[in-house]
Amino acid sequence: MITRLFGALLCALVVPAGAWAQAYPTRNVTLVVPFAAGGPTDVVARTLAAVMGKSLGQTVVVENRTGAGGTLAANAVAKAAPDGYTVLIHHNGMATAPGLYRKLPYNPLTDFEYVGQVLDVPMTLLGRKDLPPNSGAELVGYVKANAAKLTLAHAGLGAVSQLCGMLFERALDVKLTSVPFQGTAPAMNALLGGQVDILCDQTTQTIPQIKAGNVKFFGVTTKARIKALPDAPTLHEQGLKDFEVVVWHGIYAPKGTPRPIIERMNGAVRTALKDPDVMKRMADLGAEIAPDSKLSSEGLQAWLKAEIDKWGPIIKAGGTFAD
Ligand code: MLT
Repeated sequence: MITRLFGALLCALVVPAGAWAQAYPTRNVTLVVPFAAGGPTDVVARTLAAVMGKSLGQTVVVENRTGAGGTLAANAVAKAAPDGYTVLIHHNGMATAPGLYRKLPYNPLTDFEYVGQVLDVPMTLLGRKDLPPNSGAELVGYVKANAAKLTLAHAGLGAVSQLCGMLFERALDVKLTSVPFQGTAPAMNALLGGQVDILCDQTTQTIPQIKAGNVKFFGVTTKARIKALPDAPTLHEQGLKDFEVVVWHGIYAPKGTPRPIIERMNGAVRTALKDPDVMKRMADLGAEIAPDSKLSSEGLQAWLKAEIDKWGPIIKAGGTFAD
């Protein structure tokens, strides 16, 4: 908080806001990723950062600040100086954390400025390669019969892998042994090594492993099949009626970051999302560019509020809390 206030004060005293924002950026910008390097959020962040850096004229440095299902990173950015040099990329965890963490040290709706939503990403339900079931339908029977000895990997309370796993458990009315990691990159390594049994994770990390045949693949978590894996059935069509988890990623800045800087950042994001290489890479990995209505600051803010209103009661009803 002190850093944030000091930063704001310093900026206000030293240079008039308009001029300061116009000169922005004069040094590297840090994009904070709440999960481990090499995982799905990191892949999105690094793909965008490279192109955003070109349009901002400064390097966008990706920094992985892991822990507590993404809430440590969000808290750090909420309390960073509001000068445009520290921004956060985060997903649905921004909306589920207020339900999961009753003592959350920041408020997603009042402690940030909203740059814009960037991408929607489907998830996939996976097993270690030698897990016996061969389809989503077989998995349901197998998990019901073996719940006591199965492990579910995820990236902590507040992670979408945990959310997806929890919804899967609820759909089957089972409880698996939970194995948290600092992100789904290490969770995937554990799955590949056969140390854990099941992982629900985003296509931005899983498609290469699915295509290489390194994992058992049980289905996608969208209601409709996805372009990047056209032959893959959804979990919904395999009997898990209405099962749906879609991950959305947004970019945030600390509250008080001047509007011209948010707009500059938003412009850089839009440019990055129109870059042919970014578009191809994201499409190959199953990610869809957010619609224009959500790509704006107001669009992300409205969406976040709607998601908090949606997930709060669902989480409360499940009685899963981090504190
Ligand atoms: C990651 O980047 O590691 C994942 O997005 C974490 C998660 O499952 O939420």
